[in-house]
Amino acid sequence: MSTGATAPFKLLVTRRIPEVALKKLSETPGIVYDLFDKADVAIPPEEFRARARGVDGMLVMLTDKVNQEIIQAAGPNLKIVSTMSVGYNHIDVQALSRANILLGYTPDCLTETTADTTVALMLVTARKIEQALQAVRNGTWGTWDPLWMCGKDVHSSTVGIVGCGRIGQAVARRLKTLQAFGCDVLYSGPNKKEEADKLGCRYVSEEELLRSRARVYKDHDEIRRTRGYFGRDKFRQMKETAIFINATRGEAVVQDDLVEALKDGTIAGAGLDVTMPEPLPVDHPLLFLPNCVVFPHIGSASVPTREKMACMAVDNIIQYVLNR
Ligand code: DGY
Repeated sequence: MSTGATAPFKLLVTRRIPEVALKKLSETPGIVYDLFDKADVAIPPEEFRARARGVDGMLVMLTDKVNQEIIQAAGPNLKIVSTMSVGYNHIDVQALSRANILLGYTPDCLTETTADTTVALMLVTARKIEQALQAVRNGTWGTWDPLWMCGKDVHSSTVGIVGCGRIGQAVARRLKTLQAFGCDVLYSGPNKKEEADKLGCRYVSEEELLRSRARVYKDHDEIRRTRGYFGRDKFRQMKETAIFINATRGEAVVQDDLVEALKDGTIAGAGLDVTMPEPLPVDHPLLFLPNCVVFPHIGSASVPTREKMACMAVDNIIQYVLNR
């Protein structure tokens, strides 16, 4: 319902976003935006605070901490925060809600792309693709050798998915299809039985799943409750042939325990699209382990998906402005 508000809506956009989304913003009457026009660096916290002052809305990235301090810096006009991400663990949701500030995020539009990346991580890790590519580059590629660079098959393997959300389901669909990978997909998580049945996956207890070969952890909504969820005890429940895959948030893993599990052979490998911190320092032990593959948080990084995410984040703002 319109209240006839005429004052321009002041929006802070904390990073350069795809052109198509900026165009939408520019074409919407009544919105003026201040863009931190950098693609390769996140807005520094002090600049974020300064530019937040007096804004009505913010379009932020997962690299921006939206906390009480920012809300205070913005002041009483702030009515909506729209994040260009499906994850919102960088946002103090309770602080927003106390201040009656709406939160927009971008579910669904990145599901399939992130599921593609997750399957890529599984393949790269299981089949030693990173080591193989290094061998091509560093000249240790000798003659064809029956025993060289042999990894594990992903097809026909057993894959466990914990805390299955939208992306977990999309991964399951890819892996389950007989003509594709034909994996035995184990599903665990509260109230997931019906969904598992629908996907033709086996619904099992987490203990049973952990004893299987691999794992994909997927449920952004649960990250807060599952900080440090995958630690030494969980890795020890897994088989030594298991490959651990994480494409949600680095916080879900106790990284030192993962390093230990990979070093001492508790599990066979890990494929990570997310780490703590990001970027991972170049001297971090995970980067020196031959059985660990680290992607630089590119789960949703396809041009069409990033455009969709940016447009959805912008639309969340536009809807608010048109209906205020
Ligand atoms: C998200 O949107 O939360 C994803 O992590 C981006 O890839």
